[in-house]
Amino acid sequence: MEKDWYKKMAFYQIWIRSFYDGNGDGIGDLYGVYEKLPYIKSLGVDGIWFSPLYPSPNADYGYDISDYKNIHPDYGDLEQFQKVLDEAHSLGLKVIMDLVVNHTSDEHPWFLESKKSRDNPYSDYYIWRDGKNGKLPNNWDSLFEGKAWEYCPERDQYYLHIFAKKQPDLNMDNPKVREEVKSIMRFWLDRGVDGFREDVITFISKADNLPDGPPFIPAANGLPFYKDGPHIHEYLAEFRKVCEEYDCFQLGEGPMTSTRSALSYLTGKHKSLDLMFHFDHMFADCIFTEYMQRPFHLRSLKHAFSKWQKALNGRAWNTLYLENHDHPRVISRYGNERYHRASGSMLAVCYLFQQGTPFVYQGQEIGMTNIKLASIDQYVDVSSHNNYHTFHLKDSVEKRMERIHASSRDSARTPMQWDDSKNAGFTTGKPWFYINPNYRKINVAAEEEQPFSILKLYRRCLRYRKNSDVALWGDYKEYDRLSNQLYVYKRTYQQKSLLIVCSFSTHSLKWHNIKEFRGRKGKLVICNYPNPVHGMLKPYEARVYEYKE
Ligand code: GLC
Ligand code: CA
Repeated sequence: MEKDWYKKMAFYQIWIRSFYDGNGDGIGDLYGVYEKLPYIKSLGVDGIWFSPLYPSPNADYGYDISDYKNIHPDYGDLEQFQKVLDEAHSLGLKVIMDLVVNHTSDEHPWFLESKKSRDNPYSDYYIWRDGKNGKLPNNWDSLFEGKAWEYCPERDQYYLHIFAKKQPDLNMDNPKVREEVKSIMRFWLDRGVDGFREDVITFISKADNLPDGPPFIPAANGLPFYKDGPHIHEYLAEFRKVCEEYDCFQLGEGPMTSTRSALSYLTGKHKSLDLMFHFDHMFADCIFTEYMQRPFHLRSLKHAFSKWQKALNGRAWNTLYLENHDHPRVISRYGNERYHRASGSMLAVCYLFQQGTPFVYQGQEIGMTNIKLASIDQYVDVSSHNNYHTFHLKDSVEKRMERIHASSRDSARTPMQWDDSKNAGFTTGKPWFYINPNYRKINVAAEEEQPFSILKLYRRCLRYRKNSDVALWGDYKEYDRLSNQLYVYKRTYQQKSLLIVCSFSTHSLKWHNIKEFRGRKGKLVICNYPNPVHGMLKPYEARVYEYKE
């Protein structure tokens, strides 16, 4: 049976460490989440995706896991997790967990055993190789820290790490490792979770013999040999079987995935995922990674949106997102901090009316923006340090810091701004990380007060979507593709259309509708300004019109 409940839903993503501190130690936790469940529900979302909650040394803030079947003591315990899960369910919210199985922490007991010798029960849990003529086993790069190999004297061998040194890659070719993955899935599904977001899942099968890669993109040598690898569909089919025993769904993360490759996971005989996070629309102001900046280009953004809308329509289901814990804040990149309210609310409209399942990242709904810390030493994200120390080394420190300000994942990881009291109402203790000084202006309480706030617009859009067949199921068509200022698209379902008009301009623009609707009166159902003017769009104005045939 084809499950489709996830198609009608919207999700809120929680990166728990910075969400809300319930016990005053300066770190967000499950006590805090429990208290804020009514707030989450009030947004009009239908589910929560938790970034990893598991014990972790935090070399990559939760994405380096040392125990898959437990909760990090900073965040609570299994009992508190169950409380949150049950309460979420009773509010009608689904809960999905992050499943991070491309790698573990180097402090995971499997790795601690594996590195001891070449012949213990765990020795083949990871990808170990001898050096080649006194050199590394191959030329692959780590995406987070130098080369992809780290030497281990106990075994006199190297282990592979596509991410940080403290994130050794699991050997998925070992059937025992796959059994472990299934057992982790069952552990959480038996507790009642509703699905998984599967971290870099397209990387888990490595090419046989791990061949040297041709230089591909800077610092990503080897990528073609571990992305969409030879056994990926077999392994995912095994995991899929587990999920089929439960009423749950699977969402894969597919870095640098093309529509073609995404469709191979989402449709046909290899269907192993219900949804995929793809990245094309994250590169409208950069080249492959936010650290390689270029000026924001609306046409690239629109092109990426439309490409995925077209490719998946009728075949598979899209994910819609503008932010998560891996990207800087969207107002600071595609919007405009000087037009904070207008651009933040326009951005909500521009993606929430596309076809797919939307995700809203904590703080996005109140328009949080990038933080600008003075020195690289104040940043904690491993990939920000890597970028800073790998690229553009000849530039001045100021220039390199500017790039960090525009690109760091830490900008998405500053504590949530709840109100204008001390520490933004995030904690009564000492916050674990810097709070963006703009919290006095940008916070949930202030957004609740203002009539046309970003928060209120998110609520209206999410509520509208849920109750509208055309917003949920309609076909997508883009207009004015060449415009550098407007993003215009139509959704059509049965006898109804929605027309979405978004201005990315800092100036007012003339607007006289698209040809096919000219002279016809549509019903304006959403607008981010109180008094829309006929024939004109204000800076960053967004409108949604309903038309009936
Ligand atoms: C994913 C996660 C990211 C993490 C990486 C390695 O891209 O979203 O936060 O650093 O995988 O696990
Ligand atoms: Ca806490």
